[in-house]
Amino acid sequence: MTGLDDIAGVGVDRRGGFSRHGFTRVDAELREWFEGEARRRGLGVEADRNGNIWAWWGEPGDGAVVTGSHLDSVPGGGAFDGPLGVVAALQAVDLLRDKGFMPRTPLALVVFVEEEGGRFGSACLGSRLMTGAIDADRARALTDPDGTTLADAVRSAGLDPARLGRDDAALRRIGVFVELHVEQGRGLVDLGAPVGLASSILAHGRWRFRFTGEGNHAGATLMGDRRDPVVAAAATVLAARRAATGGARATVGRILPTPGGTNVIASSVDLWLDARADGTPRTREVVADVTAAAQAAAADEGCSLQVTEESYGDTVVFDRVLADDLNATLGDVPVLATGAGHDAGVLAAHRPTAMLFVRNPTGVSHAPEEHAEPADCAEGAAALARVLEHLAR
Ligand code: GLV
Ligand code: MN
Ligand code: MN
Ligand code: MN
Repeated sequence: MTGLDDIAGVGVDRRGGFSRHGFTRVDAELREWFEGEARRRGLGVEADRNGNIWAWWGEPGDGAVVTGSHLDSVPGGGAFDGPLGVVAALQAVDLLRDKGFMPRTPLALVVFVEEEGGRFGSACLGSRLMTGAIDADRARALTDPDGTTLADAVRSAGLDPARLGRDDAALRRIGVFVELHVEQGRGLVDLGAPVGLASSILAHGRWRFRFTGEGNHAGATLMGDRRDPVVAAAATVLAARRAATGGARATVGRILPTPGGTNVIASSVDLWLDARADGTPRTREVVADVTAAAQAAAADEGCSLQVTEESYGDTVVFDRVLADDLNATLGDVPVLATGAGHDAGVLAAHRPTAMLFVRNPTGVSHAPEEHAEPADCAEGAAALARVLEHLAR
């Protein structure tokens, strides 16, 4: 029993996995589920200005021990990335209640909205809005693939878009934040351990490359007469693979030719680069290499190129004192670095923050094969309960 069964039918993507995006009907269903679970446990539920949901054990207050994660997914994502941290938080409350524990400091569960950036392209939207890491005007103007702005999406979800943005009152509520998450690699499998702690997150960001050429006829246009942005985009994909050496990562997971017809030379192509490395200089170097190759390929093909940085965050090193303290509480579990981004990484710039990882036997994430065994999920929830008990006593 992982606790995820209740939402197994929500946001199922017929191509495989789940597509659960912020401020949609699917999101509303997930939020309703969480709010119901929280209320059933007598927790006080509230949404903050940015649409993150809080559930309080006892009176809300500043300096609380806070745990949680997110319920949204990447397109076609797995069942665990995000929701596991939310159900583990609920289960941890149950475990602590069962043993008669009463927190001495306020204790809250939080669900951050649109962590994956699967709809509006900008990762960790809820936590970055709250901390002011993304400008509110810029965020309001973000659009989804249908052209709906974040402002409109937020409004149709019943929130006031004018109130989006830095929320010091909410941030003050967090004294310490702990996020439990499925591991997104094979670290714990190789170490034979069900649960671990996080040490750091790679620097990472997203860049949009827009190639503009000339839309034309696939049959009537001689090969030498073309200005085909797909050709420049293809060279950029290969350049990304070449640029990411020595532990850096570069991925092109999304390419959109416009208008997108089999017998049509595209007039433009949008391509998104996800680049990650140890530290800003190396990450910037990878992006500069890919950009230079893209520029050369665009010039060769008679296309123009516009590159826009959509989001960026430097390497995160989680609070060592907190990690050591929690590791002593948990009895010496593995401590792992990760290449995956998290709301905890955003909060780490503001508050002592830690992450617990649960073993993923497939080592796969952001795909339907992502997995965690029920027994490991239970160990994770128990570890989270021990950590919360230690921090809130
Ligand atoms: C989120 O999971 C990311 O690392 O992109
Ligand atoms: Mn993810
Ligand atoms: Mn996640
Ligand atoms: Mn301690």
